[in-house]
Amino acid sequence: MKRLTFTSLSAMLVCASLSAGISAAQSASKGDAAKGKETFEQCAMCHNVDTDEKKMGPSLKGLFKRKTLQSGKPVNDANVLDQINNGGNGMPPYKDMLSADEKANVLAYLHTL
Ligand code: HEC
Repeated sequence: MKRLTFTSLSAMLVCASLSAGISAAQSASKGDAAKGKETFEQCAMCHNVDTDEKKMGPSLKGLFKRKTLQSGKPVNDANVLDQINNGGNGMPPYKDMLSADEKANVLAYLHTL
């Protein structure tokens, strides 16, 4: 009985994080910027956030104050999430490396830059 309850609980959790991923892609982040900063440590080797200087990737300082990404697409949650999920041009894809929550948190953090 206990085991059954646990299984259905984890099934619920999986569903919850899946739908969190979808809503994070659609609308603004309710992510936690402080947690996102920790997650961002794995991005920081390629991205500056304090200076405009390019590392492996472009500086992300003031990202959401810009009009467009390097790709020419407008800066918004969906396009930034797209970049995080798919990477490209030297950036690894984080689709399966980060959970939906972690991505929402990183997005919230990027909004503070
Ligand atoms: C191995 C180096 C590397 C890592 C690690 C990395 N990136 Fe990148 N990132 C890049 C490169 C290179 C680009 C430029 C891609 C392009 O020009 O299309 C980029 C582009 C971006 C952009 C678009 C910036 C713009 O102005 O267009 C965002 C946002 C971004 N990365 C976020 C992240 C986040 C968040 C993480 C961590 C989860 C991360 N990156 C990890 C190398 C990296």
